[in-house]
Amino acid sequence: MTDFAATKAMFDLPDGMIYLDGNSLGPLPKSAPARLDGMLKDEWGKMLITGWNKAGWMAQPMTIGDRVGAMIGAEAGHVVMGDTLTIKVFQALAAALDLAGDRKVILSDNGNFPTDLYMAQGLLNTLDRGHELRIVDPEDVADAINDDVAVMMLTEVDYRTGRMHDMAALTKKAHDHGVLTVWDLAHSAGAIPVNVAGAGADFAVGCSYKYLNGGPGAPAFIYVAPRHAEHIKPALSGWLGHAAPFAFDLDYRPGHGIERMRVGTPPVLQMTALVCALDIWDMADMADVRARSMELTDLFVELVEEKCPQLTLASPRDATQRGSQLSFRFEQGYAAMQALIARGVIGDFRMPDVMRFGFTPLYIDANDVRQAVDIMADIMNNDLWDRDEYKVRAAVT
Ligand SMILES: Cc1ncc(COP(=O)(O)O)c(C=O)c1O
Repeated sequence: MTDFAATKAMFDLPDGMIYLDGNSLGPLPKSAPARLDGMLKDEWGKMLITGWNKAGWMAQPMTIGDRVGAMIGAEAGHVVMGDTLTIKVFQALAAALDLAGDRKVILSDNGNFPTDLYMAQGLLNTLDRGHELRIVDPEDVADAINDDVAVMMLTEVDYRTGRMHDMAALTKKAHDHGVLTVWDLAHSAGAIPVNVAGAGADFAVGCSYKYLNGGPGAPAFIYVAPRHAEHIKPALSGWLGHAAPFAFDLDYRPGHGIERMRVGTPPVLQMTALVCALDIWDMADMADVRARSMELTDLFVELVEEKCPQLTLASPRDATQRGSQLSFRFEQGYAAMQALIARGVIGDFRMPDVMRFGFTPLYIDANDVRQAVDIMADIMNNDLWDRDEYKVRAAVT
């Protein structure tokens, strides 16, 4: 059984803050400042360029990739870290389309994160081979899978509502029709049990700054199923994805398997921070995390509906149908969220009227949930959100 009091003690959470935004950016592991300080002084400072070999910097994308891979049910040696998720979406989709041959349709849904759709649009413009991006409602995806579709590209857990697709069932249906799958796990990795190998996913991508707690700018990850790894053609054929980067050949030759999805120099400082977070994840069992997350989200829904009737649940009511976040609609949701933040309850806001809260059992417990709802009830029932200062939109909401 995971000791959640012990995991909570490993994070540096500001006094008086209830942090319900780990679905956007996880908090700082207490071990990170000293570890980064050591890395800066002992590795960068003393080893300088020799750190790439001596401190294992160059191997980190694969060694850390395996640790993240274990959290998403990937076979060892089939996940690599690097770049941002947006870039990884592009790489996965480009490789999948290349494998798909003559088929021309990319199937996605309007619950997908916009960057995934934008990258698809940009890729299709660049290819200019008559592809179509077909965007349907999330509940219509299964019916839209047919023999015309080349690639189904979906985000498993909806970033706004937490609604969850059935990855195994949709992947199976896709494969029955010869369709390749690209899964975005941004709101899944560290939030729910994921089994990319078990589901038979062809490609999966995700980030490490949300539930994995790797810090702002932490690297993304990409998974390619072993059956494809030696066949895919990297669209971003960077030198560190080359079979022999330090041969400095003039022509590109893809590296072994997933290594070809590396692009350029890895973010070593970010990966040092991520290791601190993964060490905490080593103390946790994902089944316990999921069970606790469902308890916390159910409790939040129950208390909010009892104490804040102004808010309408926008997430699935059934905990098994959602990830580890909850959304509520309220017309003045932006101002209400600013009022909450001013009182130390941190969530975020998504257009047009969604107040979003993430539940992360590694450092959030039932007491936090009860306190957060009490503060929210005070704000909602006394209209404390109705102040000009709470209505001014910041660049990041
Ligand atoms: C589902 C999903 N995909 C992609 C992205 C974009 O990731 P990045 O900005 O790291 O490229 C996000 C960012 O929040 C996301 O939630």
